[in-house]
Amino acid sequence: MQPDAPILLFDSGVGGLSVLAELRKLLPQAPVIYASDQAGLPYGTKTEVQIATRVAGLLGRMSERYRPRLVCIACNTASTIALGMVREVLEVPIVGTVPAIKPAAAMTRSGVIGLLGTAATVRQTYVDNLEREFAVGKTLLRHAAPELVEVAEAKLRGGPVDRKAVAAAVAGLRNQPGGERIDAVVLACTHFPLLREELSENFGSDVALIDGAEGIARRIADLTRGQEFARTGPDRAITTGPAEYLEALRDSLTRHGLDRIERF
Ligand code: DGL
Repeated sequence: MQPDAPILLFDSGVGGLSVLAELRKLLPQAPVIYASDQAGLPYGTKTEVQIATRVAGLLGRMSERYRPRLVCIACNTASTIALGMVREVLEVPIVGTVPAIKPAAAMTRSGVIGLLGTAATVRQTYVDNLEREFAVGKTLLRHAAPELVEVAEAKLRGGPVDRKAVAAAVAGLRNQPGGERIDAVVLACTHFPLLREELSENFGSDVALIDGAEGIARRIADLTRGQEFARTGPDRAITTGPAEYLEALRDSLTRHGLDRIERF
């Protein structure tokens, strides 16, 4: 393994930065390429076939070009749909993003858990299976809030947060039968932890907001244990969209240690 071989983090947009923030804490010396498929954003309103073919195709091309030591699909929508397919075609280790139903189920006292994700994620059998396996005897209420993806993107561009959209997403869970008893909410979209403060204001401080970022970072650290890391240049953010889009995010990217922006 070349010490400068990067870890490739992939998302449709800026959501994967919530995973990168945790990864930096564990592996501060690891070279990282942050890839955002802005030409395909948003994923959450696309069909399964559109998402699977796009993600598998792009990750194949990116792996050939950048030779990563590991690929992390830092996106719940892409992972719950395409993880198996991507693992079949790529030879590098792939870490996916799984909605954090297991820790939420262990944490709830009321027995009612909320789940916020994109429309594509909340309808996946992958989520049904996690519920069946880990939330036995609990109630899992799901709500699709795809509009929060753009709210998070806008926030990281330095714009104002659409608080009405955040309140509507929270109401989408609270207004379901039993919703008033929710005491743990799974943030099943990597964009949503970027709105943690605003979501918490709406849910109230006694509701735990749980995402998988820390667990994903730990998994990456486990899989790369014993490997050497050497950053020979600045870490890059690459995008399938216009480079100006990432330019508008430059401050947020720099805060995450991504000092170079390139078009893929
Ligand atoms: N960040 C992605 C996720 O975790 C979804 C964003 C999108 O809809 O493209 O689900």
